[in-house]
Amino acid sequence: MSSPISTSRQGDILVVTSDNPPVNALGQRVREGLKAAIEQAAADDAIKAIVIRCEGRTFFAGADITEFGKPPQGPSLPEVCAAIEASDKPVVAAIHGTALGGGCEIALACHYRVAVPSAKLGLPEVKLGLIPGAAGTQRLPRLVGAEAALPLVVIGNPVSAKQAQKIGLVDTLLDEADLAGGAATFAKSQIGKPVPRTSEMNNNRDGVANPDIFDEFRAKNGRKLRGFDAPNAGIEAVRAAGELSFAEGVKKERALFSKLMTGTQSAAMRHYFFAERAANKIDDLAADTKPIPIEKVGIIGAGTMGGGIAMNFLSAGIPVNILEMKQDALDRGTATIRKNYENTAKRGRMSPEQVESAMGLLTPTLEYGELAECDLVIEAVYENMDVKKEVFRTLDETVKQGAILASNTSYLDIDEIATATKRPGYVVGLHFFSPANVMKLLEVVRGANTRDDVLATAMKLSKAIGKVAAVSGVCPGFIGNRMLSKRQEQANQLIMEGANYWEVDDVLLEFGFPMGPFQMGDLAGIDIGWHRDPSKVTTVREALCAVGRFGQKAGKGFYDYDEARQRTPSDEVKQIIADFATRSGTPQRDVSKQEIEERLLYPMVNEGAKILEEGMAQRASDIDVVWINGYGWPLYTGGPMFWADTIGLDTVVSGLEKYGLPVCDYLRSRAEAGKTFN
Ligand code: COA
Repeated sequence: MSSPISTSRQGDILVVTSDNPPVNALGQRVREGLKAAIEQAAADDAIKAIVIRCEGRTFFAGADITEFGKPPQGPSLPEVCAAIEASDKPVVAAIHGTALGGGCEIALACHYRVAVPSAKLGLPEVKLGLIPGAAGTQRLPRLVGAEAALPLVVIGNPVSAKQAQKIGLVDTLLDEADLAGGAATFAKSQIGKPVPRTSEMNNNRDGVANPDIFDEFRAKNGRKLRGFDAPNAGIEAVRAAGELSFAEGVKKERALFSKLMTGTQSAAMRHYFFAERAANKIDDLAADTKPIPIEKVGIIGAGTMGGGIAMNFLSAGIPVNILEMKQDALDRGTATIRKNYENTAKRGRMSPEQVESAMGLLTPTLEYGELAECDLVIEAVYENMDVKKEVFRTLDETVKQGAILASNTSYLDIDEIATATKRPGYVVGLHFFSPANVMKLLEVVRGANTRDDVLATAMKLSKAIGKVAAVSGVCPGFIGNRMLSKRQEQANQLIMEGANYWEVDDVLLEFGFPMGPFQMGDLAGIDIGWHRDPSKVTTVREALCAVGRFGQKAGKGFYDYDEARQRTPSDEVKQIIADFATRSGTPQRDVSKQEIEERLLYPMVNEGAKILEEGMAQRASDIDVVWINGYGWPLYTGGPMFWADTIGLDTVVSGLEKYGLPVCDYLRSRAEAGKTFN
């Protein structure tokens, strides 16, 4: 096989080009080719400078993640970077697309970095549970200072080329249309000058002069980083860059990197990286299935959900017609959308012009007829089958043929909804999660008759609006809520047996969820679906509603809330629960944290296994994608199914049996065969 690296001469410049689609990942052959090219340049007196560039859509987008966890094959990336930096002839990185991870480390090892304005640079390793491992944590602070390096290494979001130039990571911005030419001219202008080596720079002293920056950074980002190992390692590495020699710092980085690489967090996060991409693929869909163009979207319902859904499309530049039954509800919904955008603008994440252009794409209406020309209509009304069917009947009559009719239902039968139309093939579930403009997950529900092109459209659209999609078959609650109901069942049962409800929440918090089931109830509102008759009390939730404990919005639910919305357990609620337990004759006992965790999570794994058994999810990793993006399952455990794999399916089975809980055949058979889900 020919090398992905080729070289060509442009006068006294050696142009080294990588062509390794799709993203020029730095696999073994790329590394080998790069090192050989540097050696070739060193050996040839006629060559005075070197440009490293990439073909295709991007500069090196990182190490080849598929090689992680496999026996390393030389030359290693640190060796290649060292060879580049050691060159006596100036080496220029010519950057377009995304110079990420190892790609950014290559750029840091080069003597100069030039980029087109649309390029992005970053060190996203932390998102894979790692830190840069080719001296990126040591070179970057020496080049841009510790303070500017911290967010890049520890948070992992890329910066624009313009921002990179501002902090000193990029030397010059070049014409978008002529990067190769511009880079060669730039390289020529550096011939004969002493080469600036990043490892020898000393802009990293700011962290030594003011070591508080590290603690301040940690404190500022504490919530975001909770539970993750890699960010702390990143902070340590950047700090070391100021305190140690380059060689010692590199050793420190290597030690931190190796520990992370062999840990379960990184394995889980790498699993997730590929899981997210796999989830967008539908196995039995022909590759040439043509998506339907979506140029205009209709939304039924301008409440919290409808409004949030609308914002996704408006932000992506797709016009939206939003429909309500009454003018005041329509006005309120429209005003909320505007307010949300304005808040985003206040926080500096949107310009006032962007707010206006998004709002300019919104057409509020009271008339179904105005939706006639929409290519997709999403219904987000009250969760009631009769109401939904009525909406779909009307839509079928008014919206043009060939348009997709979608329901945002969170548990109702899409196939039954489709019977209200004469176009069941064009009916699909698009289950957004609240707040719909923020939450990443989109559960795409594939009905029995949903056409292939409709599904392909849903998957493509999800990317266009920045969502992570996973496909579910039709079953009550689909993937996410179906598993959630098993957790809730156990949570309710546990507090009857004597576990304190705040302990149940705290166990999940400690596991890494942003909140537990009772906190979640308070946040969503205890009164959702309440019959509104205080004299009719058959459940704890009804008892709470009967005394006005509607949740956070009422200042009290399971918890009492202070002005800062801090929660404290309530004696009143404790008594209500104790009364229920007495009446039901449930013996009270101390319930351990371990039991709480196992009883909350193992039944979810079992339900996930049933979902796979029934073919309601395409693959175990899709379930992980749903739970990580829709319900706050901690990313660093890889999602419920990957987590079960890491603790062992036999552990899950014996745990379920210990508590007398059901074990489905699929879970049992995999456990017995010593297999995993993924
Ligand atoms: N190693 C191996 N494969 C990679 C890869 C990497 N570093 N980065 C991307 N890919 C693969 C993806 O798995 C995908 O494969 P598929 O088409 O078989 O599913 C393909 O390249 C395209 O990636 P995708 O993410 O779908 O394209 P995109 O245009 O949306 O995004 C990137 C491109 C580079 C921004 C994105 O892929 C990314 O963030 N990659 C990871 C970068 C990273 O973390 N680098 C640090 C590693 S040390």
